Amino acid sequence: MALLEALRRLGQPAGRPPSPQSWPGLIEAYRSWLPVSAATPVITLQEGATPLIPAPVIAARIGRDVKVFLKYDGLNPTGSFKDRGMTMAISKAREAGSEAVICASTGNTSAAAAAYARRGGMRAFVLIPDGYVAQGKLAQALLYGAEVLAVQGNFDRALAIVREVADQYPVTLVNSLNPYRLQGQKTAAFEVVDTLGEAPDWLCIPVGNAGNISAYWMGFNEYRNAGLCRRLPRMMGFQAAGAAPLVLGRTVEQPDTIATAIRIGNPVNRDNALRAQSESNGAFMAVTDAEIIEAYKLLGSGEGVFCEPASAASVAGLLKRQAEVPTGATVVCVLTGNGLKDPTTAIEHNDSRFHTGLEPDTATVARVMGF
Ligand code: F0G
Repeated sequence: MALLEALRRLGQPAGRPPSPQSWPGLIEAYRSWLPVSAATPVITLQEGATPLIPAPVIAARIGRDVKVFLKYDGLNPTGSFKDRGMTMAISKAREAGSEAVICASTGNTSAAAAAYARRGGMRAFVLIPDGYVAQGKLAQALLYGAEVLAVQGNFDRALAIVREVADQYPVTLVNSLNPYRLQGQKTAAFEVVDTLGEAPDWLCIPVGNAGNISAYWMGFNEYRNAGLCRRLPRMMGFQAAGAAPLVLGRTVEQPDTIATAIRIGNPVNRDNALRAQSESNGAFMAVTDAEIIEAYKLLGSGEGVFCEPASAASVAGLLKRQAEVPTGATVVCVLTGNGLKDPTTAIEHNDSRFHTGLEPDTATVARVMGF
């Protein structure tokens, strides 16, 4: 009663809040924009509708009335944007009668493929680069019931293998070569426009296999062609300096970066991504691991948003190129994955004080607190 009274005094209605269950998942939400029919069994975990969070601390670093938003796709059901593509790819695989799916992955695709495939009653085979997948992602693939094959090679090699396997055996490939993946992922661009009421001036996005930047570009174009936004953003794609084939203009044989999600040297969606860049007057740029970690820490301790290192490449890139952002511009940085995916990097790279082994008494705690 006291709470109700307090709310009333604040002038708040004491009625029922909006139902948190009103979002049906992105296939139902955007059905008319997607290649699905009444015959498609919709396999969903109610992915999508992720928040577009203002980032005032990052915006203040840039100044000049620039507005910065974080599209926090780490809040999807398996913790990354891959769920958007996977609800489509798995629903279509099920519709086609497939009983098993396969993917190569730096971790997030494997987690999403496993979750959606199992939910759809299918087997999931995932190939990962042995030793280069963050712990949370490996835990997810295993817990969701995938058959995990760790190969002693990098992502590019694993992808070449799964393409051959899917060609020769009855398993459906669910990497972003599968066109339904990008169809699902384009809905993130729809959500950005639906929230802002217009496309942003800049879209900053981490780039690995280059599927997501291609999907966003497709989404913005479809909305613009339908009159739902008037402009298109500049597509600013950021790669890790040790894995930057699109910046260098050539395949990188031994990609290397702390951001293992984008440790990719030979992106399969290269052509689509290059088209997005040239048509949008955008750019591909590299950010160093040190810059990625700096942005990762700033997002956490400045904005209260925990993303994985690869995701922080979008913010690292924005800060690096901030002089080019027009005054008053609206910038969206895509945070592709949840920070909990990679606890190891967070524990190793932070500026917090961590006092261990303390005597369990009040005086000790107060002293360490500085009182
Ligand atoms: N951010 C995260 C967290 C990712 O997991 C990926 C790709 C990207 C960015 C890059 O997206 O490949 O569409 O350019 N992860 C893939 C995987 C390769 O296997 O999970 P992209």
